[in-house]
Amino acid sequence: MTGFSAQWLALREPADHRARDRALQNKVCEQLANVARTEQRAVRLIDLGCGSGSNLRALATSLPEQQHWTLVDYDPLLLAAARAALIAWADQVISDQTILSLRKSGKTIDVEFAQVDLARDIERVLAWPADVITAAAFFDLVAETWLVRFCQALRTTLYTVLTYDGSEQWLPAHHADDAMLKAFHAHQKTDKGFGVAAGPDASAIMKRELAARGFQVTLAPSPWQIDQAEAAFIQALATGSAAAVRETGLLNAQDLDQWLAARVTAQHCTVGHWDILATPAR
Ligand SMILES: C[S@@+](CC[C@H](N)C(=O)[O-])C[C@H]1O[C@@H](n2cnc3c(N)ncnc32)[C@H](O)[C@@H]1O
Repeated sequence: MTGFSAQWLALREPADHRARDRALQNKVCEQLANVARTEQRAVRLIDLGCGSGSNLRALATSLPEQQHWTLVDYDPLLLAAARAALIAWADQVISDQTILSLRKSGKTIDVEFAQVDLARDIERVLAWPADVITAAAFFDLVAETWLVRFCQALRTTLYTVLTYDGSEQWLPAHHADDAMLKAFHAHQKTDKGFGVAAGPDASAIMKRELAARGFQVTLAPSPWQIDQAEAAFIQALATGSAAAVRETGLLNAQDLDQWLAARVTAQHCTVGHWDILATPAR
């Protein structure tokens, strides 16, 4: 497993929610409002690599009143963390059985949890009923060969946010920034369980593969903007980046330690991502 902790996901959640491109989000919400209006039923979303449920918390209050979500992850601890975090977030818990049923800001949200290894079983998940397949901070983990499989099996709208684009800017600048970023990219392209990860190339590959299959594809930037108001997040980000680079052995220990010491107190950090909305041809 790639081992994302619920603590790390909680630290990044406010920056993730701020960064999402609003225009793209509005488009997917309009599309789902149209489904609810014309078909008079709950809209259905499947969230791939759901972690502790941040993507649902970002979107659900802007979606139609009746919603059905399937949260998919292979990590049972994160699925349990998602259930707990959603119960804490809800205004009311209607039912806490196999399906968790919640009320939040006037919406009724039914949530199913599915423990699935998406590296192996993506085709099975994409065959489940859904109006939108969604994901947050997931697609940079997967390999190009897996992305081709994914695009081949996708039959419905895809709305994915926060795929890392490879750009980072820390302020004030440090002499080891460029070497660190290069080594971090090398780490991004290691195997995260799906084969050699596409990392920052994932969005371009998805655009190419989906457009070739007749999808209408729109990309929008969604950079993190973080400063010392989120000191714990900056520290965790710097520490995580340094640990990843240390694993590559591409930077000497002295430069790495100096970089980390400077970065935990950085004034500002921008990390680039892409959001993608892809709609199938009718
Ligand atoms: C960066 S986290 C993002 C979590 C969540 N979407 C969010 O925005 O907070 C990536 C997620 O993908 C999940 N994941 C990684 N490999 C997976 C696999 N093979 N099958 C299912 N989930 C996987 C991890 O467990 C983790 O929850």
